[in-house]
Amino acid sequence: FWCLLGRRRRRQGEPPLENGFLPYLGCALQFGANPLEFLKEKREKHGHIFTCRVAGKYIHFLTDPFSYHALIRQGKHLDWKKFHFATSAKAFGHGSIDPAEGNTTENFHQTFIRTLQGNALDALIEAMMENLQYVMLQSRTSKLQSNTWVTEGLYTFCCQVMFESGFLTLFGKEFNSNNDKNPSSKQETERAHILKALENFKEFDRIFPALVAGLPIHLFKSAHSAREKLGEALLHKNLLKRDNLSELVTLRMFLNDTLSTFDDMEKAKTHVAVLWASQANTIPATFWSLFYLLKSPEAMRAATKEVQSTLESAGEKINLDGNHISLNRKQLDNMPVLDSIIKEAMRLSSASMTFRVAKEDFTLHLENDFYNIRSDDIVALYPQLLHFDPEIYADPLTFKYDRFLNENGEEKTDFYRNGRKLKYYYMPFGTGIAKCPGRLFAVHEIKQFLVLIFSYFEIELVDNNVQCPSLDQSRAGLGILQPANDIDFRYRLKCL
Ligand code: HEM
Repeated sequence: FWCLLGRRRRRQGEPPLENGFLPYLGCALQFGANPLEFLKEKREKHGHIFTCRVAGKYIHFLTDPFSYHALIRQGKHLDWKKFHFATSAKAFGHGSIDPAEGNTTENFHQTFIRTLQGNALDALIEAMMENLQYVMLQSRTSKLQSNTWVTEGLYTFCCQVMFESGFLTLFGKEFNSNNDKNPSSKQETERAHILKALENFKEFDRIFPALVAGLPIHLFKSAHSAREKLGEALLHKNLLKRDNLSELVTLRMFLNDTLSTFDDMEKAKTHVAVLWASQANTIPATFWSLFYLLKSPEAMRAATKEVQSTLESAGEKINLDGNHISLNRKQLDNMPVLDSIIKEAMRLSSASMTFRVAKEDFTLHLENDFYNIRSDDIVALYPQLLHFDPEIYADPLTFKYDRFLNENGEEKTDFYRNGRKLKYYYMPFGTGIAKCPGRLFAVHEIKQFLVLIFSYFEIELVDNNVQCPSLDQSRAGLGILQPANDIDFRYRLKCL
């Protein structure tokens, strides 16, 4: 009878099972409506591990943070690649990037680590510092000339500044030919191209959760066309017309050309995937960091003080004569207050989910017990449960700018549950082998953005009492959640 309904029966030694009421979908709708509440309720009912049928798949949720390392320790039974590879191919429209399927022999994860970390990161940081100032001070000059207040949506602002600067940092600038008579019109054309790419990015990003859930892109006409246009902009023949491509993009172009059988559009779509990964979480994380700062005078005071003293000890002067501020990786790394603010903003807004697929039937050993897992089942962590746990983070829904600082004003790393020190207490970037390779760059980008905003601008919320926007749950499971609505703010250049 259960099999006829397409549901399984719990076998001995397996975690408690929630089949849900709906055929095929199982618990998908309840989970999708509010994953955090759903998981809390099931944890209350079943304990720290339970299985939910979601859209035909069986997902075992581990909710005890002391069991998280089980996922890493027993990695040999679990696959992290298949799900990622399949999702990327489905969402971005390139062929399979699984070397086992023969289209490419590139090890993407290795490429990302090699070009986003180590020495490559220094170059990215340097380029981003330059590009952020170009975008904040030159590219948007028409708005700033009068030195009067400019009012804008804070999310719109973060989106434009981070997308334009991040795009230039990874994909470089269009060549400036020597016989170009009018460089400023060239700048405007370039900016128009990037803003067009931003429109296409937003159109595509809107339906991203639906694509991950398995809906075909053909159902979404305008998002489909937006994705194709992004692909066209990132065709190798167009990238070759750009200067200062990042090592990430140069190496990926080379490996696409030498190790894959992808056609031109498929190669371009692997770059669309990188563009999406580099922006989709960074933009909302930047928004939340700045929003919470603007809402908290105490945080603002501490941040401004840290920015001033960093600039002073680096011998940097703020002026508008075209000499840009430059801070290197080491100087940026020594800003614990901004680190804590960014961490706290991401703790409050992150809803990423870690998935691993069982390669075979096996027994999952947890702290004090063990469970049988069937081949092809998914084992998942939902770290928002951890981030909002009042035992770990007192008053968890409140922004406390110094939550990640210890009594010496340095990074705090000891967090406890039931009197025991936690190894895993902060996971917006995932964990284990598939942990975000761009995490160091992401935090630097946001920090650079904040340093420059406070250096060049006076900035305030239009309404200081404005409510904190709620989190848009439609992206739960995919990373940093966007605000459900934008917030007005105003800014003007400082009189320097
Ligand atoms: C993967 C979070 C910024 C590049 C991921 C994953 C998460 C994540 C949760 C999946 C990890 C897993 O499945 O366990 C974030 C957040 C960011 C951010 C919260 C910003 C606040 C960036 C940036 C870049 C980047 C700036 C690149 C410039 C990537 C790539 C992957 C990835 C390439 C796929 C890795 C792979 O499959 O090998 N990120 N990310 N991310 N991220 Fe990030």
